[in-house]
Amino acid sequence: MSGVAGMVDLHHHILPEVDDGARNLDEAVQLARRAVEQGISTVVATPHVFDGVHDVERGVALAAADRLRDALALARVPLEIRVAAELRVDERLEQRLREEPGLSLDGHGRYALIELPHESVPPFLTPLLFRMRAHGTVPVIAHPERNLGVRGNPEITQQWVEFGAMLQITAAALDGALGPVIGRTARHLLAHGRVHLVATDAHRIDRRPPHVAAAFEIAERVVGRDGAHALFMGNPAIVARSGSPDAVVAPVRVRRGGLVGWFDRVRST
Ligand SMILES: [Fe+2]
Repeated sequence: MSGVAGMVDLHHHILPEVDDGARNLDEAVQLARRAVEQGISTVVATPHVFDGVHDVERGVALAAADRLRDALALARVPLEIRVAAELRVDERLEQRLREEPGLSLDGHGRYALIELPHESVPPFLTPLLFRMRAHGTVPVIAHPERNLGVRGNPEITQQWVEFGAMLQITAAALDGALGPVIGRTARHLLAHGRVHLVATDAHRIDRRPPHVAAAFEIAERVVGRDGAHALFMGNPAIVARSGSPDAVVAPVRVRRGGLVGWFDRVRST
């Protein structure tokens, strides 16, 4: 746990009974306990907006967070809960963010967690990223390793990063818990210097619980201790406190072959 003590988890469906995350208050408290055991000190709750099934209203999310904070205080679980959103890319996204900047990861509209559909990359994505940056919001793309277009051709993410987007991969992808293809894609993005942030995207105690220790060790092997620290600790903290994007540690490409190549071969067998 020492590697991630004090981590801010920027992507987590911990709020009870609002989306496909925690099914009730008790499960939310269990998720919180598990997060604390892993070294996480702050969770930014990111309920789904526009994902075709859920469109969690701000008031509902804030009320769920209040219930959870009360329960955590009672259970003496030292976890800070903030409330943002995971916004599925949609033509209404920019207007929604303008009307409700609290949906952003920092609460002030500087960083927004956006999610691609799983099956494809919408044609309006690149202009959307460009416009968001032009208007002062950094798009943080959630779990690109799960998108079929990225899995087929990870190089398409290069343009998104050049347009000023940041990529957030899921800890459970890195350690292989989400399957070999997603794992390979996540490690490819990491080794090629495209990943800025790691978060848990935790949902339920028995399905994608918050687990970061193994992923941190793998990230250390791929990008070194300082690089892993930036991904899990330094960069999420900058985003959460609405720091300047210039302060975010830029990912670097690690050399081809050597450890990374060896590692990917071992993991994919
Ligand atoms: Fe999510």
